[in-house]
Amino acid sequence: MSIGQRIDQTIREIPPAAQRTPRVLDAMRAVPRHPFIPAYAQALLGPAEIERMIDLDADPDTWWDAVYSDSVIVTQVDDGAGAIKPGADTPTSSASAPSTVADLLGWLNPEPGQRVLEIGTGTGWTAALLSHLVGERGTVTSIEVDATVAEQAAKNLATAGARPHLIVADGAGGCAQRAPYDRVHVTCGIRDVPYAWVEQSRPGAVIVLPYCPGLGNGHGLRLVVMPDATAHGRFTGFAAYMMMRSQRPPTPVRDDGGGRDLTTRIDPRTIAFAAPGALLAMAALTGLQVTYKQQDDQVLLWAMDQDDPGIWTLVVHEPGRAEFEVYELGDRPLWDEVTDAYFRWVSWGEPGRDRFGMTVTPEGQRIWLDDPERGRLA
Ligand SMILES: C[S@@+](CC[C@H](N)C(=O)[O-])C[C@H]1O[C@@H](n2cnc3c(N)ncnc32)[C@H](O)[C@@H]1O
Repeated sequence: MSIGQRIDQTIREIPPAAQRTPRVLDAMRAVPRHPFIPAYAQALLGPAEIERMIDLDADPDTWWDAVYSDSVIVTQVDDGAGAIKPGADTPTSSASAPSTVADLLGWLNPEPGQRVLEIGTGTGWTAALLSHLVGERGTVTSIEVDATVAEQAAKNLATAGARPHLIVADGAGGCAQRAPYDRVHVTCGIRDVPYAWVEQSRPGAVIVLPYCPGLGNGHGLRLVVMPDATAHGRFTGFAAYMMMRSQRPPTPVRDDGGGRDLTTRIDPRTIAFAAPGALLAMAALTGLQVTYKQQDDQVLLWAMDQDDPGIWTLVVHEPGRAEFEVYELGDRPLWDEVTDAYFRWVSWGEPGRDRFGMTVTPEGQRIWLDDPERGRLA
């Protein structure tokens, strides 16, 4: 099968959506993905993200099929502390799934001749796609925090014939020297939007980022920069990404005894499997990190204070129970806070993700429902 046929096969796997524009899909045809994928990597195949090691030398067919499928390819684990191998390491760099890349680029809509700032170079594939989209007269500045990842990206980009300007630094500071930007494209998960990105963008510029506040999967956020150097925008859809290094959630939680055993009538799955709009409301109203794990026939849900590993709550769903166990540590009633926020969202008529938005100012960020001023949540 030719590269072109493989690319068309990948594009056929990407479900049609308004943001997946013909320009972005054409860029994916023009910029093949394989020069950015190492010979040995970990693929997360299909919607279920089934883990599979891919090895170009030992099993080329599986490698090519994975590279040209709608799958995440993990290229670094544990910040490079260990080599990629089968098992439960923490992915820290990857080539994102083509459908997610298409979504973000569609929301960003970079035009020929524009100046783009990218945060999270990773393999370099999206920097190459951005370079193609802005063309010869545009510029792409891409920042990667990990020097080893950046070095490999530079090699990949040279092989592919793309020439973005690469910087090794913490992308939270942007790059003032190469500002102003027309577009800012962020490919690591963000909890607190750095104001530098707004400050370094011209009025009318678009910033697209995966907002990952710590409840469920992330949300695409498309901000537009205003003449007064603030930015407003709405949540656009699904976008799950690896967190920006400095914004990772607190782990592990600490248990120094003294916790309280309680019970609740509210099934923790109500929170764990809540709709995206509910997740945004709970994130805005509580500021908590909430994660869950399915283990045999149990669902375990943790709510955590993002700043204090000694404040957390565990709620366990076991089938057939009228009440569920709650273990609460620290002086905040986190389960009450989370469930109160959930039922406030229900009382508003269960608004969907696209009715929520964010405003970013030099003082910080706030989330709103429907109206940036009257609908302020936090
Ligand atoms: C999902 S990968 C990016 C995918 C990439 N755009 C591509 O096309 O392959 C996320 C990247 O963000 C990088 N990263 C994490 N924190 C960062 C930070 N503070 N500044 C810049 N890059 C960061 C990670 O090292 C990782 O390489």
